[in-house]
Amino acid sequence: MDFSDAKEEVRKAADIVEIIGQHVQLKKRGQNHVGLCPFHSERSPSFTVNQDKQIYHCFGCGRGGDVFTFWMEYHNLTFPQSLKDLAERYNIDLPRYRDAPAEREKTELKDQLFKINDLAADYLHAMLVKDVGGRPGRDYFSRRHISRETISAFRLGYAVNKWDGLVNYLKSKNISLDRGAKAGLIVPKKDGDYYDRFRGRIIFPIIDLNHKVIGFGGRILDDSLPKYINTPETPLYHKGDSLYGLDSAFKDIRERGLAIIVEGYMDMLVLRQHGISNVVATLGTALTSNQIRRLKGYTKEVVVLFDPDDAGRQAALKSFPLFLNGGISAKVLVLPQGEDPDSFVNRYGSDKFKELLEGATPIFDFYLDQALARMDAGVDGQIRVLSEVLPIFMDLEQGATKFLYVHRFSEKTEISEDIVWEELRRREDKRPERRDTSQLKRRFLSGQDSRKYGSDLQFLNLLVHYPETIDTFRDQEWELIVSDPEIIKIIRILMEKSPSGGDLDLNRIEESLDSPKAKEQLRRLLMSKPIYSDESVSQAVDEFVRKIARVKISQSFRKASAEGDIETLDRLIKAKQALDLPSREN
Ligand code: CTP
Ligand code: MN
Repeated sequence: MDFSDAKEEVRKAADIVEIIGQHVQLKKRGQNHVGLCPFHSERSPSFTVNQDKQIYHCFGCGRGGDVFTFWMEYHNLTFPQSLKDLAERYNIDLPRYRDAPAEREKTELKDQLFKINDLAADYLHAMLVKDVGGRPGRDYFSRRHISRETISAFRLGYAVNKWDGLVNYLKSKNISLDRGAKAGLIVPKKDGDYYDRFRGRIIFPIIDLNHKVIGFGGRILDDSLPKYINTPETPLYHKGDSLYGLDSAFKDIRERGLAIIVEGYMDMLVLRQHGISNVVATLGTALTSNQIRRLKGYTKEVVVLFDPDDAGRQAALKSFPLFLNGGISAKVLVLPQGEDPDSFVNRYGSDKFKELLEGATPIFDFYLDQALARMDAGVDGQIRVLSEVLPIFMDLEQGATKFLYVHRFSEKTEISEDIVWEELRRREDKRPERRDTSQLKRRFLSGQDSRKYGSDLQFLNLLVHYPETIDTFRDQEWELIVSDPEIIKIIRILMEKSPSGGDLDLNRIEESLDSPKAKEQLRRLLMSKPIYSDESVSQAVDEFVRKIARVKISQSFRKASAEGDIETLDRLIKAKQALDLPSREN
């Protein structure tokens, strides 16, 4: 068995709906499953998965492919790594194989960084739990009520206050220190040597959805600064892409239909320890749209906890548009002054916390309350608030939510709903070039070549959905009736790769297409419904054959008339009449 056999084997075993469905909420719609795209921000689902064909395609951003492509993109892995993951998952043996050098290098680097992180996590964990030097770490965690179970479940660690603890450990394991530096764990010095990045800190490994360590956070034990340091950007770790604890929370988040988002490592751990399992933490950044996109694969409801200080309030306000555009309904919970989730739960217990959770404020109301708190009395104040809120209303899709928001807004500000709607209309009118003309222009332009293009697509649709018709066109000059070069490319490969009278091997076809545009085109088509019914296929074939003949005749006609060849012209006219006769439409 070689590598492509293994790939086929995995492809057969894997179910794309199951694989994607783990991380994206999919609903059955017709022959497809649809959901919100994990690769771009959208409010209504255009991400489409087809079980029969084992492909996915997003009609919004154009990304798509097969189960391997998904695994690579979603988990930030190379193809060989994805093949390996999926093969393991479905118990398929992989032969050793060789891949292209560039690919191999990337895979090898990432594999090694995973390995180094894993070794380091083990080492730092061992230091914490059993080394004499780990005492300060153990004391610290016990002071903060972190249990042994939590320490082992989250592989927490301690980096001793030395410059070469991890450096020496990596050396003893024969790990290239250059790679250690690429993992962000150690830092090169001018003299060619290295030193530990994390010193005298408790350590939180950051784990991805495949349960692998991609980075670390480290907190100092006292009040010195910086309080936290994190792994810098590496091939594995991208700030703002991951959420701390998501790997162990996503199933619960999906089950409960709710995610709780906190700011800190300690907050997440302490809540978990109190039995609140659907909680994740942002990692030292404001919430990002990438993080929200990940979450919405599991739930459409989140509660965000912000610190009760000004920074926390600002963070809440900043996240507001992200949720709006991400199609997630968010609530905000602000804890009593001076508390964060960690201190609160330790002081009052989880029941009290859950009570507060129940009373979380919908983010729009939170936003309004903040705006109103700053609203000056009288008309001037009203006008200020209105102009602040209007842009947000304008970004909202027309629909129930918008009506509700306008209603609530006018209730709270005592600005009449009519005025709000009127003002909205006026502003929408004011940006015609952004709204109407551009859309009109798009419609107009697409209408112009849609006829030509439409016929290309019809032809391709016929061939793809009724591959038995391909044979008919094999030795016809079908290129004459197709104008889009991408589609010509696809059809050529379709003909090359499909055996006479046999089924289509879609995977081989997709692999043979070199341009991403052509691949996308093919996927789009595969996702589309057949245009022709079983009954109308032969008529359609007939018409395309006729169309080819007609184009050929008019080509010859042009040539003959240019040469003044009356005889040929006469013959062609007769041929054309014969061709047109039986066809009712023409
Ligand atoms: N953070 C960071 N770098 C900093 C400060 C904070 O990455 N210099 C991130 C950490 O993920 C931290 C979170 O922001 O957990 C919240 O910061 P903060 O509220 O200051 O810390 P706590 O999590 O409350 O930490 P502790 O309870 O240990 O003081
Ligand atoms: Mn804290």
